[in-house]
Amino acid sequence: MPGRRRTLCREGRLAVLHLQGSTSTEWLETALAAMDRVLVDHAHCEHKAAVTALAFVSKYPDDPRLVTSLGALARDEAGHFARLADLCIGRGLSLGHPDKDPYVDALLAAVRRTSPLHNRVDRLLCCAIIEGRSCERMKLLAAALPALRGRDAAGVVDDAICALYDDLWREEATHHLLFVELAERSLARAGSPDAVGETRQRLNELAAHEGALVARLPVRAAIH
Ligand SMILES: [Fe+2]
Ligand SMILES: [Fe+2]
Repeated sequence: MPGRRRTLCREGRLAVLHLQGSTSTEWLETALAAMDRVLVDHAHCEHKAAVTALAFVSKYPDDPRLVTSLGALARDEAGHFARLADLCIGRGLSLGHPDKDPYVDALLAAVRRTSPLHNRVDRLLCCAIIEGRSCERMKLLAAALPALRGRDAAGVVDDAICALYDDLWREEATHHLLFVELAERSLARAGSPDAVGETRQRLNELAAHEGALVARLPVRAAIH
């Protein structure tokens, strides 16, 4: 039963990332058993993250903070993609075309279309949640992979992979916080008398939705 999956994360870490419900041991075991598949999926995730950040810049070019911060984030994500792509190609893996991502599709289904502001806030907060969940899972990989160095049953675990996940989870945590800040700023610029409180309430609602998805969706050898 998904709801009974054993979980791995301490509550404090979840709270920092505004996540409701931690990743299961089943996900970590599945990922570690098929690291090559995880790496290819992860490369596509980083590519999509860069494209999404630039799409925000195109849609909201009149918000200087959004333009500069998401421009920089897109550069980060493109760098992550290049690192993953190098790793995959070095291991003889082909990136191919990305699979559909049922997690992201189901998460974005909760985005409100009741007003342009609601839509903007929800899309920023969904990105915050995706960054938060990615951070949590990359940190789990960073902690588990060093003990598996040299193993090659489902892809060699080497120093490059260990270093990759040890670097990336920290960056994704800052991305999470940036998207929350941009949602707050969007509400404040639109005149909300309590942008912080309004953001927190909507973030909690979306995080509850995401936590239910994580418990319900099949576990995959993928970041989400
Ligand atoms: Fe990234
Ligand atoms: Fe990120």
